[in-house]
Amino acid sequence: MGPLQACDQEIIGEIVSFMEVAPENWINVGGQRKKFLNYFTDHFPFVCHGLSLSIGGPSPLDRTFIHKLRQFMDNYNILAYSEHLSYCTDDGHLYDLMPIPFTEEAVSYVAGRIGQVQDMLGRRMAIENVSYYAAPGAELSEIDFINAVITEADCDLLLDVNNIYVNSVNHRYDPVEFLRALPGERIAYGHIAGHYDEAEDLIIDTHGADIIGSVWNLLDKAYELFGVFPTLLERDFNLPPVAELLSEVKKIKTIQGRWNPGSQSDEEQNQERTDDQRRSA
Ligand SMILES: [Fe+2]
Repeated sequence: MGPLQACDQEIIGEIVSFMEVAPENWINVGGQRKKFLNYFTDHFPFVCHGLSLSIGGPSPLDRTFIHKLRQFMDNYNILAYSEHLSYCTDDGHLYDLMPIPFTEEAVSYVAGRIGQVQDMLGRRMAIENVSYYAAPGAELSEIDFINAVITEADCDLLLDVNNIYVNSVNHRYDPVEFLRALPGERIAYGHIAGHYDEAEDLIIDTHGADIIGSVWNLLDKAYELFGVFPTLLERDFNLPPVAELLSEVKKIKTIQGRWNPGSQSDEEQNQERTDDQRRSA
């Protein structure tokens, strides 16, 4: 028997289509942790979401890490690698995701480094639109910066709808307009998460709360605009019971089913109809 009980495995297997790991936390593991990794990667498709690449950072790329990452992805049949469009190093690790200045110079610098990583990995990578709380030295808008990096680097996009919502409140823009301007054809997969309301005009991207209605609506809009893409629920702390987490994953599937009706079970379609009737009553 693996780390999951048979009944848990059945329930989770029905609801969870794929899982994500931070490669930094798993590349060098052995013993029991390695057994868990083997078990889960044998039973679920996996993607890697990096924390330490520092694609916009001033220090040279960590070639040793990228080499190990390539081996890790090959060994565990990892489907995609994503990283944040930010930086987290100076001379050492800063343990936070810092905002890259939105400038033409930074576009060329970052795109060049993404190209190097893609070459070293022998595969494309996806860059995530990040939440940020200051835009030092900005000469471009956030959307122009993201689009320029993706085009110049010829890489994919990890679309985080919660980050769009958080930034739209903190930096006062229309989240749907922002969404529309993204290159939908480049989306490798998506993220959705909860956040913390610090003040009326300040939201912190915590991944520590349930997802709010406006963020669910943005995911729905993204599927409407770009078609359905695989979407991961991010939850880093304040963890509720697994059943509650799975109900949010189910909700992702329900919204996906709305734009891809063939994928919905009869039970889900009936539930959807009941919900619609309730809403219109
Ligand atoms: Fe994310």
